[in-house]
Amino acid sequence: MAWALTPLTEEQRSIQAVARDFAATELAPFTEVWDRDSYFDPAIIGKLGELGFLGMMIPEQYDGLGVDTLTYLVALEEIATVDASIAVTLSVHNSLPTQMLLKWGTEAQKERFLKPMARGELLGAFALSEPDAGSDAASLTTQAVRDGGDWILNGTKAWVSSGTKGEVILAMARTDSPDDRRGARGISAFIVTPDLPGFTVGKKEDKMGLRASPTVQLHFSDMRVPGDRLLGQVGSGFIYAMQSLDNGRLGIAAQAVGIAEAALRHAAAYAAERKQFGKPIKEFQAIQFKLADMASRVAASRALLHAAATAKDRGEHITQFSSMAKLLASETAMWVTTQAVQIFGGYGYVKDYPVERLFRDAKVTEIYEGTSEIQRIVIARELYSR
Ligand code: CAA
Repeated sequence: MAWALTPLTEEQRSIQAVARDFAATELAPFTEVWDRDSYFDPAIIGKLGELGFLGMMIPEQYDGLGVDTLTYLVALEEIATVDASIAVTLSVHNSLPTQMLLKWGTEAQKERFLKPMARGELLGAFALSEPDAGSDAASLTTQAVRDGGDWILNGTKAWVSSGTKGEVILAMARTDSPDDRRGARGISAFIVTPDLPGFTVGKKEDKMGLRASPTVQLHFSDMRVPGDRLLGQVGSGFIYAMQSLDNGRLGIAAQAVGIAEAALRHAAAYAAERKQFGKPIKEFQAIQFKLADMASRVAASRALLHAAATAKDRGEHITQFSSMAKLLASETAMWVTTQAVQIFGGYGYVKDYPVERLFRDAKVTEIYEGTSEIQRIVIARELYSR
């Protein structure tokens, strides 16, 4: 049913098959109970690491798999089709902290952090948002002050995915001074690890969906960060975060396509077996039209995502493309899962069938890594920027 609109190479198809088998055997039997108990199983990360899925776009010289963006996203979609929580864990790790270290890290930072991350021994997280800085990310207030060769960080980061398990956290903090604010240019990126004195994990969010992906606040209280944990240049952290989100949004788009694809499959199967008025409900045009629209929107989202991924792999500027792919895929996921619940009727509203979870999981794709409104702002701005 899943149309491969972009022809995949043999290697891409084989990694896709590995991801599909892994999802069917290692995730599918547990997804429901993990969602119910809001449980994140660290053993899964180890197993994904063994497959190389924690270093997908990291070159082999840094112990990664060294595959291109399209291959990574195809595998991510397969995981998301079965477990969207594991998919976001993979997406954040592969798209944000590892890519930041690869692009702007020193060789020593790559040796110490990137290599074990690529092997799946250390899980990565990304800490940009704060309780009062969400869409307006540049208004963040976590402050970093130099102290000899170190930095002292104070502040609270919010909505950090994988935050309880994150072992290497790329955190953005202000390095400008209160009497010389420099906006986005006053922000730097730091490599934070939970062993730093003054680091604590705060409130764990009790979420509507993606319940098997822990989302937390992180508190930095006079946290002493060694000088060699600064990533790249002072004052460039916001730019690094934005460039990385261009990648991250592709990952979220793949997650959203996977959620939508799963809802479509469940709805089509249910419509073939559920009988009302003496025949399977798939015989009714009201249901056929829904399924047709669902399938079309999933295919369009996947096609745009794959086009954006191949543009990235050609080295093109993808800010607009990436926001378009994320916007279309996330709104498709929400719409398709809503239609799936409708096709299931009362059975869609209870936990006996997966569409109820898929509907809950879909919602956040319209919110994190930039809301749909922010994606529209980015897309519109880019229309005039070149
Ligand atoms: N690539 C490179 N540079 C970029 C860029 C990009 N995509 N976007 C912006 N920049 C640069 C600008 O060129 C500018 O640089 P100069 O100083 O050289 O001019 C600088 O960054 C500031 O840019 P803006 O003036 O555009 O900044 P802004 O304050 O107007 O904000 C925004 C722009 C697009 C609204 C941005 O704040 C944004 O994306 N907000 C959403 C935040 C977001 O996505 N958060 C996600 C949290 S992480 C998460 O959800 C992960 C998870 O756990 C799942």
